Amino acid sequence: MKIVIVGPGAMGSLLAAFLSKSREEIWLLDKNAERAARIQESGIAVEGISGSWEAKIRVTSDPAQIKQADLVIFCVKSYHTKEAVSRAKPLVAENTKVLTLQNGIGNIEIIAESLGNERVIGGVTNLGATLLGPGKVRHAGKGETVIGRADGKISVELRSIRELFNKVGLEARISRDIKGLLWSKLIINAGINALTAITRLNNGRLIEFEGTRKILREAVTEAIRVAKRKRIKLIYDDPLAKVEAVCEATAGNVSSMLQDVLKKKPTEIDFINGVIVRQGQELGIPVPTNTFLLNLVKTIEASYKLAL
Ligand code: PAF
Repeated sequence: MKIVIVGPGAMGSLLAAFLSKSREEIWLLDKNAERAARIQESGIAVEGISGSWEAKIRVTSDPAQIKQADLVIFCVKSYHTKEAVSRAKPLVAENTKVLTLQNGIGNIEIIAESLGNERVIGGVTNLGATLLGPGKVRHAGKGETVIGRADGKISVELRSIRELFNKVGLEARISRDIKGLLWSKLIINAGINALTAITRLNNGRLIEFEGTRKILREAVTEAIRVAKRKRIKLIYDDPLAKVEAVCEATAGNVSSMLQDVLKKKPTEIDFINGVIVRQGQELGIPVPTNTFLLNLVKTIEASYKLAL
């Protein structure tokens, strides 16, 4: 199988390193030619809970060098999905499948619109990864990856992706309800990410302080109301308790949104709290806390150059 991972960020690099343990032909597609050449030369250095190890990997910025792939995995930030999909088009042949392991809601739809519904596979990963530099990544947390199709069908391709992940030591399973899974993850991100980005705290600290714990609960409660009205079946019996449990389990993590803010980069706020706000407004459900978080993170993004 020829597999292309699009995006050399934390998750893309960690996944590329793990998948390179398989016998498949693994490529990493980076839009930056100079960085691609550097990672190709140095390989990917992994440290953290799986030890310190290196993976040699094919890296390019030119999809024509890869030609057509069997599987393309999108690991870019959600605000880059559109652009990444159009760059990856030469990789997509009649039978190519496309998997998104990105945060937030909306990526499946963006990919399907351009490449066709049938080939898209959604996924959620709880793997913890922190980018330390180009080609350098910390494997910060173990966690399963769950994949599925929007139509709930369990196809041969889903099974082979699951086998592939399991073979290289990554827990993976298939779900018939990928929408429920994506919304369950969205609720976790809606409670944690913006609040860590605003306060610049690690995930675990959010539940130690009364103020942040209260805001987290309000944001999550609003998000659960929206999901319920949309008749989305969340995978946790008590989603609020789950968000607090994730804060504890990932206590030392610098959330992906805080990592973006610290690097003065755009964030995925529109695909996380932004989704709750838009859907809440459409359904007539009050979402003041998510609106507040959305507006504050938008202001932080817009004022990097002005901040003291
Ligand atoms: O985006 C993130 O950082 C992660 O999804 C999570 C679960 C909040 C842990 O840091």
